[in-house]
Amino acid sequence: MKTQVAIIGAGPSGLLLGHLLHLQGIDTVILEAKSPDYVLGRIRAGVLEQGTVDLLREAGVAARMDREGQVHEGVAFSFAGRQERIDLKALSGGKTVTVYGQTEVTRDLMDARRAAGGVSIYEAQDVALHDFYSDKPYVTFVRDGQTIELHCDYIAGCDGFHGISRRSAPADRIRTFERVYPFGWLGVLSRTPPVAHELIYANHERGFALCSMRSEQLSRYYVQCSLDDKVEDWSDQRFWDELRARLPQATAAALVTGPSIEKSIAPLRSFVAEPMQFGRLFLVGDAAHIVPPTGAKGLNLAASDVHALYHILRKTLLQGRTDLVAQYSGICLRRIWKAERFSWWMTSVLHRFSDDGFSQRMQLAELDYYTGSEAGRTTIAENYVGLPYEPIE
Ligand code: APR
Ligand code: PHB
Repeated sequence: MKTQVAIIGAGPSGLLLGHLLHLQGIDTVILEAKSPDYVLGRIRAGVLEQGTVDLLREAGVAARMDREGQVHEGVAFSFAGRQERIDLKALSGGKTVTVYGQTEVTRDLMDARRAAGGVSIYEAQDVALHDFYSDKPYVTFVRDGQTIELHCDYIAGCDGFHGISRRSAPADRIRTFERVYPFGWLGVLSRTPPVAHELIYANHERGFALCSMRSEQLSRYYVQCSLDDKVEDWSDQRFWDELRARLPQATAAALVTGPSIEKSIAPLRSFVAEPMQFGRLFLVGDAAHIVPPTGAKGLNLAASDVHALYHILRKTLLQGRTDLVAQYSGICLRRIWKAERFSWWMTSVLHRFSDDGFSQRMQLAELDYYTGSEAGRTTIAENYVGLPYEPIE
């Protein structure tokens, strides 16, 4: 088999990159280890930055998002019994975020690839990357018991944190940076109207809580939990009681509860791999970096990597601009580290880390200061709606 760009992984990164390249007439093959249903079964965050929305529109896959997604002009922080709204739109020169689930983004991208006749090979086993420091890289995989060779010009490693691409980089050429947080998030999806029209991030002495949503009738809530907790430890009743206890009184009183339709526990991690390009192999999205979900940057960072790689590959393959390949890491990492900083800061000020009273008072002072000053609110707003993309020239 032969293609121009071999894409490993059919998550949002791989599918979006594949579709953007297809629109430029660049041939791609996507290799995915799991089945389409498995990929669509993963529930993940649902807040899209302005840049992500614009990129999905550019890819021509935004019709349903534009119809069903909710545009949010603000976000709230609650702490010390108060609730403070950040006016995202006014403070960021008119930018907003769109609430639309990652599962839906993935579904729209899968549909677009199918309609465009793009090749996606699901349930590809034993994917291995070869010779990416030469100008004739190739990928091997096993399908129905047969080993197949896929020859290509470039490889895009879009296979997530546990994928093979990052692990294929030579150990002496890659450096990783990591922080693991001492707690998890217990998430619940329920068919109930959201407690508020905008997201609420709550600092409480019992621990962090987040009120989010998927639609007018579908709520997504989270509470900070112990890493030792099991989903079975958390009955619906216990979850709702704990969430209510962590919200300001008026919000708690407005909470509509109901049976959970999904419940899961996720760990929190910050992680960055440097560089993100190894010869003709590029790492994209979760394959190269992880953020804790506080701040909702995971999918948005994947989209900004895709934006950079799409333009670099387009100019490289169509205009012979091979000089751009070496710029990929630098362009991506400058934005990634700033999003890592914001996600780490949000995590740091909103969660309960220990019984240490001094640290808790510092968190409250920080929240009081940031939400009470126009400069502070502007900082939160411009990071939350997403920092600008660097042009590729
Ligand atoms: N071979 C082929 N495919 C693989 C392999 C492999 N060895 N390993 C993993 N994959 C697939 C996974 O099954 C998954 O479908 O790669 C895909 C990676 O998708 P994601 O994990 O969704 O990563 P990405 O597309 O970069 O999306 C980033 O996902 O985790 C969230 O917060 C993150 O929202 C962000 C988004
Ligand atoms: C979600 O809706 O799942 C969500 C929203 C915002 C976050 C994290 C998750 O910061």
